[in-house]
Amino acid sequence: MGNGWEHSAAAWIEAMGDTGDWGREHVLDPVMLERVSARQCEYALDVGCGEGRFCRMLKAMGIPVVGIDPTEALLAQARKRDPGGDYLLASAEVLPFANESFDLVVSYLTLIDIADFRAGLREMVRVLKRDGTLLIANLNGFITSSPKGWVKDFDGHYLHYAVDRYLEEFPEWVAWSNIRIQNWHRPLASYMRELIALGLVLRFFDEPHPRSGDADRQCRYRRAPWFMVMEWQRPN
Ligand SMILES: C[S@@+](CC[C@H](N)C(=O)[O-])C[C@H]1O[C@@H](n2cnc3c(N)ncnc32)[C@H](O)[C@@H]1O
Repeated sequence: MGNGWEHSAAAWIEAMGDTGDWGREHVLDPVMLERVSARQCEYALDVGCGEGRFCRMLKAMGIPVVGIDPTEALLAQARKRDPGGDYLLASAEVLPFANESFDLVVSYLTLIDIADFRAGLREMVRVLKRDGTLLIANLNGFITSSPKGWVKDFDGHYLHYAVDRYLEEFPEWVAWSNIRIQNWHRPLASYMRELIALGLVLRFFDEPHPRSGDADRQCRYRRAPWFMVMEWQRPN
């Protein structure tokens, strides 16, 4: 059964459509694209590129990019939608690139999917040039620590978001829209400790607000935000 990605690929491709899902379109894409635009970039790596949406966005900005992903069915879709693109079957834990190959490495909602995220981060830093940027979008640990999600009253009103076992690290199966995958919950401290130990310097941090989208969803999102964005620089 693995991590569920191969079986969920068709439903995932459908859920992403052209614009990505609600969170990507209304919350993450605007800030991720702003961060990329704020710098010159010669060669980018998208770790866990999935069906290739963010690679296509980087290419549209004139940035040469290679995407890697261990899920063949997603890579097939990435190649179909971008026949001239560069997409390789690989996992974050063993990246098939020489040291210091890229000046931008992107992890767009993949840290929660990478089983050995410590090895994955080590690899991302190894292939990053000095002065290069590791741009990470990840799920907020409050969200991944919750088996129940929103707690509602009898009338269906949203009361609060449940959080449990926050300081532990554990895998959890999550399911929606015919997608069933294994995600990892880790507290923010697990990621921060590792990134600091790798010698990176934090240059940007945000828990982005929605910029658009329907009002009810925006309201819920502000009560229990799903995402964080971090930009780490590898020192010279
Ligand atoms: C939530 S999707 C994100 C895909 C894409 N970055 C996006 O934002 O649409 C997570 C991706 O991580 C990939 N993945 C799972 N395990 C991985 C690993 N060990 N290394 C790299 N990617 C992995 C999955 O195949 C999937 O494409």
